[in-house]
Amino acid sequence: MNILDQFVIPPNQEHIGLLTVMQIISLLTFLPFVGLMLGSSVFSVFYNRKGKKTGNALYVKIAKDIIDKLTVGKAAGFALGILPLITIFLIYAQMLYGAKMISISLLFLSLVLYIIGFIFMYNYKSAFQFETIFNSIKKDGSVPEEAARYESKVNLLGMRYAVWGITLLFIASFLFVGSTTIAAKPAIWASVDNILKLLLSAPIWINYLLFVSTSFAITGGAILYFFFGWQGGIAGATDEYKEEVKKFAAVSAFVGSLLQPVFIFAGTLFMPLSGSSSGVYVFAGFTLLAILIVCNLLYYIYKNSDMRFAGAVFFLMFFVFTFSIVKDQLTFNNSLKDHFLVLNAKAEELAKEKEGMIVQVNSADGEKIYNEKCIACHKFDVKLVGPPYQETVPKYSGDLKKLAAFVYNPQKVNPSYPAMPNQGLKMKEAEAVAKFIMDKVSKK
Ligand code: HEC
Repeated sequence: MNILDQFVIPPNQEHIGLLTVMQIISLLTFLPFVGLMLGSSVFSVFYNRKGKKTGNALYVKIAKDIIDKLTVGKAAGFALGILPLITIFLIYAQMLYGAKMISISLLFLSLVLYIIGFIFMYNYKSAFQFETIFNSIKKDGSVPEEAARYESKVNLLGMRYAVWGITLLFIASFLFVGSTTIAAKPAIWASVDNILKLLLSAPIWINYLLFVSTSFAITGGAILYFFFGWQGGIAGATDEYKEEVKKFAAVSAFVGSLLQPVFIFAGTLFMPLSGSSSGVYVFAGFTLLAILIVCNLLYYIYKNSDMRFAGAVFFLMFFVFTFSIVKDQLTFNNSLKDHFLVLNAKAEELAKEKEGMIVQVNSADGEKIYNEKCIACHKFDVKLVGPPYQETVPKYSGDLKKLAAFVYNPQKVNPSYPAMPNQGLKMKEAEAVAKFIMDKVSKK
């Protein structure tokens, strides 16, 4: 995105450190949220379909509870999903300043698709809420035929929104993963330059599968926690309901967690050598350790149907996220070392240029500086606190540099005057005002 380069300035070395921290925080919000959104959408639609097909109200209730409990309200969805993604986008735009590659465009496209996908899923959720209201009316007696027809229309619409919403979320996620994978591999910046090539890239698919399995792991963990652990679990649920939810949530969390190390390992095979460092291996180790504990606890939950550790599992999953995000960010920063050196040089150059710009502005502003800083003590022909310029400036006989040097750093000259206090000007400003004074004196 070339337009962006005009707004974004190249970051220097310290700035990159700050951006890295912000990036980690944003990812730590965005990835779990989007994983939950994806997983809960899939499960809800799956149970909704199953319920309608078999006519079993239990499945429909599960479908509704999943989407109700796991996807937060719209405002929170914006804060946890869209806002961090916009931040991530802007940070990448800074870090990848001047790089010729498609990551930034892809990230932008994924942002747009995520927004539409989220809106569709919230519409699906609203259709469900409508259905609940309608059912409670139905219980009280017969409803007019028209209302029943309207209800089935809303249901159909809700289902359609859900199918499109899920499709968009999967595509948006692929673009997101593709974009971040390319960003961390300068070696493929030039070669993977369109969406078609994205589809042919093995490391992107590995990271995408890791993303999907992580999404199902966190969704399973969240269901276990919010349905059974948090505040004593879901109220008024039948045993049959509990058994069904427990089973699929534990399986989702377990299979998702088991697949994570497989894809993490496969991913390291494609990691550029320049990306590795001891820090990367340490955090990879932490990640695997946390996954191992999660798997053990899940196995225990599944075997014994004991929900004591549901909360621990859910929170440990956030450790998995944290470790693996830090590991990826370290890899990213290692791989982009050369690029960052270029950026740093550019930032310095730009800073110098900026100073240059101040010179230009100020040389026109010599008069302004005189009016602001000197006029209180100096006139051209009358003595004030300082001597009139008519008397002192001709002494410099056109040596602008020398006069500027005095203004920049005044020395004691004439015993009949007090010393002139330093006016704290920059050299360029001193030159500008010196030029103004000199021009004016020589004209008279
Ligand atoms: C607080 C009062 C004060 C201000 C403000 C001040 N000056 Fe002076 N300036 C003096 C005094 C007093 C002297 C005489 C110092 C001496 O002879 O040692 C002096 C001397 C000078 C001289 C003569 C130096 C020489 O070689 O004899 C120049 C030129 C000059 N000032 C320029 C400036 C300019 C330009 C500014 C504004 C950026 C400025 N001054 C602001 C008090 C001031």
